[in-house]
Amino acid sequence: MSHNSRLIINGGQSLHGTVRCSGAKNAALPILAACLMVQGDYIVHNVPNLADIRIMVRMLKALGVHAEYLSSGSVRISNSGSIKHIAPYELVTSMRASFFVAGPLLAQTLHAKVPLPGGCAIGARPLDLHLKGFKALGVDVSIEHGFVDMKASSLKGASICLDFPSVGATENVMMAAALSDGETVISNAAREPEIVDLAEFLIQAGAVITGLGSSTITIQGVPELKGADYAVMPDRIEAGTFLMAGAITQGDVTVEGISKEPLEACIQKYTEMGLGVEHAENSVRVFYKEPYRSVSIETMPYPGFPTDMQAQMMALLVLVDGVSMIKETIFENRFMHANELMRMGANIQVDSQCAIITGVSQLTGAEVKMTDLRAGAALILAGLAAVGDTYIYDLFHLERGYEGFTDKLIELGAQIR
Ligand code: EPZ
Repeated sequence: MSHNSRLIINGGQSLHGTVRCSGAKNAALPILAACLMVQGDYIVHNVPNLADIRIMVRMLKALGVHAEYLSSGSVRISNSGSIKHIAPYELVTSMRASFFVAGPLLAQTLHAKVPLPGGCAIGARPLDLHLKGFKALGVDVSIEHGFVDMKASSLKGASICLDFPSVGATENVMMAAALSDGETVISNAAREPEIVDLAEFLIQAGAVITGLGSSTITIQGVPELKGADYAVMPDRIEAGTFLMAGAITQGDVTVEGISKEPLEACIQKYTEMGLGVEHAENSVRVFYKEPYRSVSIETMPYPGFPTDMQAQMMALLVLVDGVSMIKETIFENRFMHANELMRMGANIQVDSQCAIITGVSQLTGAEVKMTDLRAGAALILAGLAAVGDTYIYDLFHLERGYEGFTDKLIELGAQIR
């Protein structure tokens, strides 16, 4: 999508039906990065077809791994073990998650030279916890000319306590530790399901990792890792977003290919608000039952309420009678969607990390702009419920993280073009 493409949503249709979840972007990205340190010929299945994924595939090729995106949503990998260690500038700056290559490059070549990714709209996104973890493993880190240069004569297991349960730092350190000498213990580790998925991939390749899903992860270093076919977990954030589309249009939406466990915190809030929620082994359903009630939300590391669902929840709450409150504790600037929602008639007071939402009876369609991936999804949800047409610009944000998002909404009855 170009920078001047736009979506036009005619609001007011309630959504009904079933959609299938794609593979999780935030599991596929670190798993693809880990392919740098997993030798052999193998296939990673259930990879979503997203702009960010395509950047990571290009990154692998640039570093010497043959990676080919197959039409079936799989990526074929051929890694002979000869890896370059300098990540290209233009790829890193276009996607900050490319810093995930640092851990695998250190594990495989004891050297990684990665441009400092810029911040992004939602915050400065520092890397101090990643670098502290690498230093504990014996890596010398220098930052010069906009590059982070990391070198080690060898990697030695260590005990690392993260100041904050950072998802990226947990993943990067776990990958570097997988081929280190000896045992590494990461305490205060992040517990996101995507980290468990990455660990399962590494274990299938021969890594020895225990404590998955807990805040203490123990890794016994092994000499090398060999690939085997692996399927990426479903995307709990995409699933939660579709359930919210059903909720905001007072419809009835089932998402298949997802279990309720990774959505527990969201389901808890949906139920508190008065949404009808049902689940089967591999699907979750949300349906309109009664007028929604206002709630308070505080974003927390997993298993708390996910920051990646905060914008979508704000869109839903602007139409709920009463006063709701959202506290964003993970990123320092993740309320930009509030301004756009106010242009559609929402009543929101933002005060640093808190947003107070006073319900209004309706939103009216307007011209609005996406500021980041999840804010974009929130504006689409608001457009689905607004009276009249909503014009949404800067769609490239959406392309980064949602595969066929609007097509799936149209399948559910949305009027989008
Ligand atoms: C991952 O980002 C996700 N991205 C984010 O999803 C998600 O919002 C975030 O985790 C939190 O769940 C991917 O997995 C690719 P963090 P990450 O390190 O790893 C601070 C989306 O929409 N921090 O847990 O960057 C940081 O500034 C994206 O798909 C440090 O201070 O998140 C932030 O305030 C958006 N120093 C907080 O921790 C560090 O060294 C959480 O960051 C690292 C992080």
